[in-house]
Amino acid sequence: MSATGPTAARSVNDGAGPLLVDADAGSRDPAIKVSSLTKRYGEVLAVDEVTFSLDVGTVTGFLGPNGAGKTTTLRVLLGLAEPTSGEALVFGRRYGELADPASRVGAVLESNDFHPGRSGRDHLRALALAAEIPSSRVDEVLALVEIEPAADRRVKTYSLGMRQRLGLAAALLGGPELLVLDEPANGLDPSGVHWLRSFLRGFAEQGGTVLVSSHLLAEVAQTVDQILVIDRGRLVASGRLDELTARGRTLEDVYLELTGGTS
Ligand SMILES: Nc1ncnc2c1ncn2[C@@H]1O[C@H](COP(=O)(O)OP(=O)(O)O)[C@@H](O)[C@H]1O
Ligand SMILES: [Mg+2]
Repeated sequence: MSATGPTAARSVNDGAGPLLVDADAGSRDPAIKVSSLTKRYGEVLAVDEVTFSLDVGTVTGFLGPNGAGKTTTLRVLLGLAEPTSGEALVFGRRYGELADPASRVGAVLESNDFHPGRSGRDHLRALALAAEIPSSRVDEVLALVEIEPAADRRVKTYSLGMRQRLGLAAALLGGPELLVLDEPANGLDPSGVHWLRSFLRGFAEQGGTVLVSSHLLAEVAQTVDQILVIDRGRLVASGRLDELTARGRTLEDVYLELTGGTS
């Protein structure tokens, strides 16, 4: 393994990045591969024939207005909803078929279930215990998301931004290679958004892959290498940021044009 590998990087950055990147089995599969994914809820076509693939080590913004189908796509990807047709794979497999999911994929979806009377630290300890992760990792992830001072307070006293950080801490417990974050900037103040951006960049620099959804372009535009734009269930654009914004167009122009100005 080279000096720039994740093991070396980990000692520099205290466990922020993946603890282990499977260089043999995983490297040939994209981190995420979504193929002709369709999800219907009765009359509602929430996701309509969506196809994309994300390489390991990239940070991708998953953008679109409220109701566009972002959360549904992520839920299917994480095995929380069944596709109507098509498939969504992580590291070449369905999420439920991963051998050690906590070390491959960490996710923070919109609604986090925290026991309100538990402290943040106890919440993480319970999760670590259930996933057979050493409890020393709890202190590491508390430090990574910078909520140590609040770790022993009940979660019901946390601000939304602190809950977001606690959710991220939980997602990091297993040292995942891939982070899937649904609207993680919700509730964060400007300094929190700034912190999140640099955290995600650092994670990717250590070989991690990130898929981050947002209905607000500005939140992710400065963080990501590439974007996917979804509108009314359909993927309407995908590509590298620099390519999409070529010829003098701003990303905002592109986004508003694609989504009819309803950001
Ligand atoms: N469990 C569900 N049952 C019925 N309709 C749903 C369900 N989840 C999402 N939808 C609908 O699917 C569409 C896409 O929703 P969602 O994926 O949450 O969008 P986004 O995350 O982009 O805001 C919306 O019309 C929403 O109302
Ligand atoms: Mg959503």
